[in-house]
Amino acid sequence: EAARYFSRELLSWYLEIRRDLPWRQNRDPYRVWVSEIMLQQTRVDTVIPFYERFMEKFPTAAALAEAPEAEVLKSWEGLGYYSRARNLQAGAREVVSLHGGVVPDDKEAVASLRGVGPYTTGAIMSIAFNRPEPAVDGNVMRVLSRYFCLEEDIAKPATRVGIEKLAASLIPEGSAGDFNQALMELGALVCTPKSPGCLTCPVLQHCEGRMAGKEHILPIKTKA
Ligand code: ADE
Repeated sequence: EAARYFSRELLSWYLEIRRDLPWRQNRDPYRVWVSEIMLQQTRVDTVIPFYERFMEKFPTAAALAEAPEAEVLKSWEGLGYYSRARNLQAGAREVVSLHGGVVPDDKEAVASLRGVGPYTTGAIMSIAFNRPEPAVDGNVMRVLSRYFCLEEDIAKPATRVGIEKLAASLIPEGSAGDFNQALMELGALVCTPKSPGCLTCPVLQHCEGRMAGKEHILPIKTKA
């Protein structure tokens, strides 16, 4: 049915169009973590050169933990939202003091790191460790609201919880990292906020939002 079709078609689409981004070179959880923090408020094309310089300067959690804060902030210049950089360094210091410098394959431990919320936890657990955890951000809420024609207010925490459960249920066995990145990629490249590219969408055939003619009004969001 619609859910199985979605998982299968989205994953195979992604495996075909996947871009060779610098944080996809290997699954080092520290590299995944840094990329997800940078990508939270900044577009992929902007992030790439900053990410490459940052990883050269601070290749490990230990290197980041030991650096003077001013140097870390300097590397962040141009990305904005500096609290992300401060939190990332505080998180790296926690990884060194609590986990021997290695980001642990442990959801609760990852979730407790400074600056790491539910989305980043899911991204790290799935992309770095291939654990079947959802990684739901605004893009993923939009994609799933449209595909399943969910008309609940995505500003409500209960809606987010429901979408996280749905997203978890869609993860194909053994492909959590690829599937979660496929969802992000669909939201970024096809199922965009304005004028979504439905005609190139790999899951158009069973998209309930589109069938209802509601792709432009979904997701429903009351407050910012
Ligand atoms: N946006 C957030 N996470 C991403 C990722 N891993 N790849 C591409 N875009 C993203």
